[in-house]
Amino acid sequence: MRPLYLVGTPLKRLVTARAVNAIDMTSQPGAERFMPDRTSLSALREAAADCEGCELFQAATQTVFGTGPARARLVFVGEQPGDQEDRAGEPFVGPAGRLLDHALADAGLGDVPRYVTNAVKHFRFTERGKRRIHRAPNLGQLRACLPWLTAELKAIRPELVVCLGATAAHAVFGPDFRLTQHRGELLEPADGPGQALATVHPSSVLRAEDRDEAYAQFVADLKRIPVHKE
Ligand code: URA
Ligand code: SF4
Repeated sequence: MRPLYLVGTPLKRLVTARAVNAIDMTSQPGAERFMPDRTSLSALREAAADCEGCELFQAATQTVFGTGPARARLVFVGEQPGDQEDRAGEPFVGPAGRLLDHALADAGLGDVPRYVTNAVKHFRFTERGKRRIHRAPNLGQLRACLPWLTAELKAIRPELVVCLGATAAHAVFGPDFRLTQHRGELLEPADGPGQALATVHPSSVLRAEDRDEAYAQFVADLKRIPVHKE
């Protein structure tokens, strides 16, 4: 099949083609201008803490950058931090993260070093009473934040990027990617290192009517991950 791994470019195309009128470029100038000169993960993390590339920094507590060793051969990309991640400043520390950890252990990958991050680095939510309800990031926010993910992947050069859910898959493969069609496939890179694979978001497993079945399918996808243990 056609190589799909094109971090950074397809979204720009989509934005120009379909959504440019919907995006207020003054409120979403993008993360590019906040990029540091040095491109190590620690330099990126430090710079991302001050990012104002879109409006999401205003209501959220803090930037939630990726975590994990730079030598990790496996990178997991989620959608955006949730309520607990926003408070903790770390990705996947809430219920979705616990399910992911559990599924990775069941897939035999529990002890494989991994770097975990999100397509969008600030929590987007609406307030309902005291609760903060997750809202998926829009295309403009996804586009604005993409330079951080691109820089993380460049710094790590992983063997495999695992996209958790459609938002992550759109960030990595482009907006035409259909998760239902390509779920669990190992895709060859056209541009950039390694391979990539998309599966569902662990939150969708938590919400599924038949949770056991959804979990089993999620673990089956994770079992397709080729790992060269050190
Ligand atoms: N969901 C995500 O996509 N990312 C997180 O970090 C937490 C929940
Ligand atoms: Fe910057 Fe991304 Fe946060 Fe927007 S969501 S302010 S682009 S780090």
